[in-house]
Amino acid sequence: MKMIDLKDKKLVAQGRNNLELAEKNMGALMKLRARFKREQTFRGLKIGMALHITKETGVLVRTLQDGGADIAITSCNPLSAQNDVVAALQAEGIAAYGYKGETRQEYYTFLKRVLAFEPQITIDDGCDLISELHENHSQLLKKIIGGCEETTTGVLRLHAMARDKALKYPVIAVNDNETKHLMDNYYGTGQSTLDGIIRATNVLFAGKIVVVAGYGDCGKGVAMRAKGLGANVIVTEVRQFRALQAVMDGFLVMPMAEAAKLGDLFVTVTGDIDVIRPEHFQAMKNGAILANSGHFDVEIDIKGLARLAIDKCVVRPNLVEYVLKGQTPNSRLKKDSADKKQSAGDFLRAQKSLYLVGEGRLANLAAAEGHPSEVMSMSFCGQALAVEYLLKNKGKLKPGVYQLPKALDEKIAALQLEVLGISIDRLSAKQLKYLGGWKEGT
Ligand code: NAI
Repeated sequence: MKMIDLKDKKLVAQGRNNLELAEKNMGALMKLRARFKREQTFRGLKIGMALHITKETGVLVRTLQDGGADIAITSCNPLSAQNDVVAALQAEGIAAYGYKGETRQEYYTFLKRVLAFEPQITIDDGCDLISELHENHSQLLKKIIGGCEETTTGVLRLHAMARDKALKYPVIAVNDNETKHLMDNYYGTGQSTLDGIIRATNVLFAGKIVVVAGYGDCGKGVAMRAKGLGANVIVTEVRQFRALQAVMDGFLVMPMAEAAKLGDLFVTVTGDIDVIRPEHFQAMKNGAILANSGHFDVEIDIKGLARLAIDKCVVRPNLVEYVLKGQTPNSRLKKDSADKKQSAGDFLRAQKSLYLVGEGRLANLAAAEGHPSEVMSMSFCGQALAVEYLLKNKGKLKPGVYQLPKALDEKIAALQLEVLGISIDRLSAKQLKYLGGWKEGT
């Protein structure tokens, strides 16, 4: 099995530099770190994590460790680990597994290694660690205090587990913090998804027709940023209210079957399966770009795309060209045109390539570096405070999915405002009374 080469001193040094850079932009989390360190909040606690191993995640690991915890971590997506950060964490003695481009089999081996560490708290992004623990390592359940979940898809899976009475311990849906999904999913995914697509393709957004599938917090962020770069945005949705919101925000809304014919660039952010399917690929324009930023690589039917294709070529890192059946790849076409004296018109009509970013996995993590540090600082304050909350409530919470108390969410917002040097108004006693009363009317 391939592992990060620890002897690669340059990789370790690069990882350290990146961690330090992230720490400078994660002020709120660093403030929590100082308290955890002082109080040794997590002394002796074993935490198993499956998160995208980015520099920001590395800062969370260091924060929990400074608070006294022992950590084992693996990546929660085969393409999202940043090798330099994995190397730097390993060099600090942390059990960090995974590398960018690991196989599915390796992915599960690494998850198992984290479980072999016998964690008392799990931190997940997408629910794979919890699911693997419940399905194949249930003997570990007795040691578990609780868990935390980072993303929408993971929270949905947890609710499904709870519905099936399969969930055996309390889990905090950190994703549902306002300081998480209203910041991370919206601003984070909005910016970093475009960053990933641009790094993979260097495409100009201005003047393009960008189709965004799903108008949740992530879709709203992607649509807003694409519009900001000058694109014309079309939204596809399955929920009436979300579709209406997109219309009110000034976007065209239509079914994918219609949008497929118009789009130059497609971004899926639904958390759903088979959102873009063969009939859509067939309707698309030559040169259309496909990217996904939802949690799993199932939103674009890649197998369906491969079935339609007669040729496939890695154009550059994180960009694969599919040449559809009944068409001829560009290079071969040129040769055939010369051989068979095809006209330039035939040549143009015959060619149709579609380009897939980052194997249809989270474009922002596969092709870029994930969300910016400022955003992850708030998300990971949520994770750290959720771990503290689980510890304080050890034995008191029944199995189920919980929200972090509102006061803690507010505390994260307050910390971030403090870091930004922004102060706000306070309610006066009169205002408090007014807002809490019902007798005063017109
Ligand atoms: P959400 O549930 O708020 O929004 C998803 C939207 O997609 C909903 O409005 C839903 O009606 C719509 N939808 C579902 N099936 C559809 C279909 N077939 N066609 C069109 N629309 C459809 O979820 P949120 O928070 O926006 O997250 C979306 C996905 O992104 C999830 O998988 C989540 O885990 C992931 N995510 C990715 C991040 C990243 O870094 N790339 C960050 C945060 C979340």
